Amino acid sequence: MAHKDANHHHHYHHLLLLTTIVLLSTTTTTADDSTVMSTFQTTLSPPPSSWKTSTDFCTWEGIKCDNSNRVTSINLLSQSLTGSLPPTLNQLTQLKTLSLQKNSLSGDLPTLSNLTLLTEVFLDSNNFTSIPPDFFLGLSNLQTFSISDNPNLNPWEIPTDLTQITNLQSFQASNANIKGSIPDIFSSFPSLQSLRLSYNNLTGSLPSSFGGSDIQNLWLNNQDSGLSGDVSVLASMTQLSQVWLQANAFTGAIPDLSNCTNLFDLQLRDNQFTGVVPQGVMSLDSLKNVTLRNNKLQGPMPVFKDGVEVDISSNSFCLPTPGPCDPQVTALLEVAGAVGYPMSLAESWTGNDACNGDWSFVSCDSSGKNVTSLNFGKRKFSGTISPALAKLTSLRSLSLNDNNLTGSIPKDLTSMPSLQLFDVSNNNLSGPIPEFPKSVRFSHDGNPLLGQTIPSGTDGPPGSGPGSGAPGGSPSGSPKGSSVSAGTIVGIVVGVIVFIGIVLFVFYKCCGKKKHQRFGRVENPEVGKELMKPSVVGSSSNGYGGGLSELQSQSSGDHSEMHVFEGGNVIISIQVLRQVTNNFSDDNVLGRGGFGVVYKGELHDGTKIAVKKMESGVMGTKGLNEFQAEIAVLTKVRHRHLVALLGYCIDRNERLLVYEYMPQGTLSQHLFEWSEHKTPPLSWKQRVSIALDVARGVEYLHSLAQSSFIHRDLKPSNILLGDDMRAKVADFGLVKNAPDGKYSVETRLAGTFGYLAPEYAATGRVTTKVDVFAFGVVLMELITGRKALDETLPDERCHLVTWFRRVLISKENILKAIDQTLETENEETLDSISKVAELAGHCTAREPFQRPDMGHAVNVLGPLVEQWKPSRPEEEDGYGIDLHMSLPQALQRWQADEGTSRTFDMSFTQSSIPSKPSGFADSFDSMDCR
Ligand SMILES: *[C@@H]1O[C@H](CO)[C@@H](O)[C@H](O)[C@H]1NC(C)=O
Ligand SMILES: *[C@@H]1O[C@H](CO)[C@@H](O)[C@H](O)[C@H]1NC(C)=O
Ligand SMILES: *[C@@H]1O[C@H](CO)[C@@H](O)[C@H](O)[C@H]1NC(C)=O
Ligand SMILES: *[C@@H]1O[C@H](CO)[C@@H](O)[C@H](O)[C@H]1NC(C)=O
Ligand SMILES: *[C@@H]1O[C@H](CO)[C@@H](O)[C@H](O)[C@H]1NC(C)=O
Ligand SMILES: *[C@@H]1O[C@H](CO)[C@@H](O)[C@H](O)[C@H]1NC(C)=O
Repeated sequence: MAHKDANHHHHYHHLLLLTTIVLLSTTTTTADDSTVMSTFQTTLSPPPSSWKTSTDFCTWEGIKCDNSNRVTSINLLSQSLTGSLPPTLNQLTQLKTLSLQKNSLSGDLPTLSNLTLLTEVFLDSNNFTSIPPDFFLGLSNLQTFSISDNPNLNPWEIPTDLTQITNLQSFQASNANIKGSIPDIFSSFPSLQSLRLSYNNLTGSLPSSFGGSDIQNLWLNNQDSGLSGDVSVLASMTQLSQVWLQANAFTGAIPDLSNCTNLFDLQLRDNQFTGVVPQGVMSLDSLKNVTLRNNKLQGPMPVFKDGVEVDISSNSFCLPTPGPCDPQVTALLEVAGAVGYPMSLAESWTGNDACNGDWSFVSCDSSGKNVTSLNFGKRKFSGTISPALAKLTSLRSLSLNDNNLTGSIPKDLTSMPSLQLFDVSNNNLSGPIPEFPKSVRFSHDGNPLLGQTIPSGTDGPPGSGPGSGAPGGSPSGSPKGSSVSAGTIVGIVVGVIVFIGIVLFVFYKCCGKKKHQRFGRVENPEVGKELMKPSVVGSSSNGYGGGLSELQSQSSGDHSEMHVFEGGNVIISIQVLRQVTNNFSDDNVLGRGGFGVVYKGELHDGTKIAVKKMESGVMGTKGLNEFQAEIAVLTKVRHRHLVALLGYCIDRNERLLVYEYMPQGTLSQHLFEWSEHKTPPLSWKQRVSIALDVARGVEYLHSLAQSSFIHRDLKPSNILLGDDMRAKVADFGLVKNAPDGKYSVETRLAGTFGYLAPEYAATGRVTTKVDVFAFGVVLMELITGRKALDETLPDERCHLVTWFRRVLISKENILKAIDQTLETENEETLDSISKVAELAGHCTAREPFQRPDMGHAVNVLGPLVEQWKPSRPEEEDGYGIDLHMSLPQALQRWQADEGTSRTFDMSFTQSSIPSKPSGFADSFDSMDCR
């Protein structure tokens, strides 16, 4: 115990040292504030009276200084001041508070850039005329900013370089003449609680990065031209307490806000909202005040809890009083809901009688009671087909053709008693083709994915050659009465061609051109693109509707290891990095990759770090701010099985990333190059344990709430090992996060041949299942000791997944596939290997929905590791980095302890460091440099 504490202290000490130097490098100015302050005296007309009676500005009203007579605070709230601010204001480098609200100050605002200590700025209720472009640069400690009620500002846009201000808690700029859209930068502000931008001229939609943010107070009401689009992102903003969206041009349904349990004030009036008010909004206990007036809301009149102040007038509810709608109306509204309550329906689908003649696209029988026909043909609808259609029992004709419908055809529709015509042709439907009675004319041409579902377990391996025929499960004999259209056949043929194309391409890359020495990034985004367009775009979760349940295991629930730290991004100065890497000496090189070099760094207490130095141009066009924003997020992701990003440095064109050091290098070295490195081959126990570590790390990545991370380049050279041979996943997150947590269509592929999931290679569509596939490949490599692509082998064996899945068909074959270095005498070991082999097969299923999630992999591997686990509990963490304290925390702690003292130990060991095999080099390959 005592030993552990000592160790703890040790780490703490080195963190302090590092941060000390960071601090020092930013506070070396010895300027005098008197020049700025005497200018300030003249720009104010008149200045406060006490400003004239003394030359010591530290005694002036509203001014506070520190011990060295540097101004730390300017507080001139409500002083009836006129005049302007001095252009040199940002030379007051010790300034922490600037409070000038409620005056009549005017003129151009001076830049605040580089005021790194500034935490609060209040400029509201003045008459300023412009904001300079570099106003917000380098305000790394800013928490509160307010510029509301400055209506004479020149029109300005919310600058994207706000992303540097990662500590931002409150941003208020209502009535400040802002134009343009709200930039999608909110994943950069983990502490943002209040965003007030009312009464401006913002346009466009709510940014998706609002999702998962901690914003409580959201005021976007009364924009001149109106914000638009749907507001579904609100459902995931669970900290919301006050939402003012009134007087805009928002459309679509009100989302289910049942997870926003602190919401008390919801102002949605004067928009274009459609659809039924969800129960999850009406039943919110926290709600006190709701306005829904003047929208196009449908369905039953909403009823809120007692005591809630409500205004729901001027809508299209079915009845003027609360109560359920007519059953046909209810069913039709469900149908409309499945296509997002489009405005074209909301405008006419009002009242409680679907047969009153006003309802567009609806026809009724002669009695005027029962709906007999629904014609949604060519309406540009997207969404799904609602099973509620089956409740329209008199329906004879149902035309949904030529839209963008996805998901499967509900099976219930096959038993509709009166149905004669059902047309779903030319959509993007998937799933099985249901069998309708002979009496129904059923058209479904032009849905390439329809009927392509493959029963689980019987699909051919990805990359199985042309010889294996059409993908399994495609309808060979079509059911009687339904016509297999030319479209379906074309769809199948296109699918097969794409598939063959990928296989050939992989073989070509792998085996055809032996002169290609390595298989790095996929540079060509166009692979397969002309052949098949991406099918599911956007956030529809209906893409793979059916038959998943047995494949989707519950999460392993092992979230006890989560460490997401709050605090700013950690900028480390180039001087520090030079010193700790012995001026980037060749002796310190850990590895080289396509994009740059990784150096080992050693602090004076012997703690090691790895510094990845990217050459200029490597980051491509990716802007500085975007880079910083991404890094800011990544530095907060901490998990026992993820290599921690400790900080970064930007030095002119170079960008450097500082990681924890992993002494045993990459899994790749231990698996494939152990003899060159003179290390013993990994035992099976070590391999399973590594697999579990990786699964846990990736599971955690996939579970991150704020922004879903998909690694996209999981492979042994990105898996690093510590001295105890426990693994951590490296280089996660450097390829961009998926915006909505599920799907994204990327224009550029990142990844490595041999590990690419087929749908990713074909369409570029990224889901977490891309990582599951790659993980399956890694499992195969662990079992066989063979690389995912091995150009030295004959063609039929060079692609590991294809070969292994063929081997897997017969259990006895496994013995032949197992790595020769593994001892397989033991029954227990063999059993364990065969379980992992089965998991590997499952993870590499061709269809993403057939692959399990990472939680399942953890559940399978956990018991296999458990059976050998020594009784010793897992150590908290290793390799010299204290994960309980982030660098900014350490910095804060140190500042509190040390007061203003400014003497530090700057010494570093200059001794040369013995070079040791280690990783990071290959992991350069995974950088996506958009
Ligand atoms: C802010 O600091 C940067 C780098 O130290 C410098 O290049 C820039 O000119 C400074 N900006 C201002 C307005 O002083
Ligand atoms: C604000 O400034 C404008 C011109 O810059 C001036 O015309 C106007 O009167 C000022 N308004 C107030 C309230 O001071
Ligand atoms: C608001 O912005 C739109 C274009 O984005 C523009 O047409 C309109 O004139 C602006 N309104 C005002 C009051 O500036
Ligand atoms: C509320 O949160 C739970 C747990 O995260 C989630 O399963 C559920 O889908 C959420 N509900 C809504 C309406 O978003
Ligand atoms: C509800 O909101 C309206 C309009 O914003 C306001 O006038 C009223 O005072 C609010 N009521 C409560 C109880 O907050
Ligand atoms: C209308 O539908 C109801 C219920 O489905 C049925 O009982 C009734 O016979 C139908 N009327 C006509 C004219 O078909």
